[in-house]
Amino acid sequence: MLIGNIVITNPFIQAALAGYTDRAMRMLARKFGCELVFSGVILDKCTSYKPLFERPNYIIKDDEHPIGAQLLGTEPEQMATAAKNMVKTGYDIIDLNFACPAPKVLRKARGGALMAEPQKVLEIFKTVRDAVSCPVMMKLRIGTDDSAQAKENFWYIAENAVKSGVDGIILHGRTVEQRFKGFANWETIKQFKEKFPQTTIIGSGDLFDPADIVDKFKTAGVDGVAVARGAIGKPWIFRQIADVIEGKAEIYKPDLKTQGQIILEHFEMLKELYDARKCIWYFRKFLSKYCTSHNTIKKARREFVAIRDEAHLREIIDRLYGC
Ligand SMILES: Cc1cc2nc3c(=O)[nH]c(=O)nc-3n(C[C@H](O)[C@H](O)[C@H](O)COP(=O)(O)O)c2cc1C
Repeated sequence: MLIGNIVITNPFIQAALAGYTDRAMRMLARKFGCELVFSGVILDKCTSYKPLFERPNYIIKDDEHPIGAQLLGTEPEQMATAAKNMVKTGYDIIDLNFACPAPKVLRKARGGALMAEPQKVLEIFKTVRDAVSCPVMMKLRIGTDDSAQAKENFWYIAENAVKSGVDGIILHGRTVEQRFKGFANWETIKQFKEKFPQTTIIGSGDLFDPADIVDKFKTAGVDGVAVARGAIGKPWIFRQIADVIEGKAEIYKPDLKTQGQIILEHFEMLKELYDARKCIWYFRKFLSKYCTSHNTIKKARREFVAIRDEAHLREIIDRLYGC
């Protein structure tokens, strides 16, 4: 898969997930063979706040390349400044978010709301593209809603972004109005790739099971897939996808002890990013996903939700995972 001049040998990436894809989650994705990762979306004007980039989570180390930054905003010049700031920080790719369905984002006419403003989207794209020399991508949904006007806007944005040299489009197969309801429309993702065969198209939506992911990838004929919720508490999903692609008879599945070691490794990395108290409460949302791979899910979940501190975490991992 090619994104501008960046070559990715596997057809999968770690999708941007606000509140999750910090350095710890990204490094675990890499450990399991994911070559391209994204940070969570960042508001354009926040990138001008210098102390932000002194926080450990925002410092891009040498072992984090290639990495994409995703930007949210509405003003072309401000987005261009933000893109330059992110490149200066060490990001290799800029991705423009025109897909976020969160009410607080839509109220400010950002993210998915911009899919109703094709000219604005294209102006933002062109201004950013002219401001940086790295690849510039965009994240889209298949429309604001199901209306004919929304479909027209969606195809208009895509056609003109492609004409203007977008380096890749990540397409989530739901409308903005759908948020996360129903199913992603992989038929539209397939049509999208058919219409733009020369452009790197990465499909997104409902990517949870390795065999199903590879099936969706092949059926849609896309260049790659962006694994999102499916990688939370299951970083080994990337290795599993690679195993399916390679046609391996046995798909990698970490035994309990290995799962426990991965959980502890994840926690150790969080300690480098956040203070001790934040680490514990922040880690709970990951633990509630990690426990779904345990053979006594309910028991593991019950224990994890009541976690108090690091010693308690280690005691639970020792008892339930044998490490
Ligand atoms: C908690 C959460 C945070 C997300 N944050 C972002 C984000 O920052 N940028 C983005 O483009 N998409 C974001 N997404 C959307 C995902 O990248 C992805 O497109 C969507 O979840 C569909 O994929 P899935 O059904 O396989 O999870 C987020 C989704 C979730 C659930």
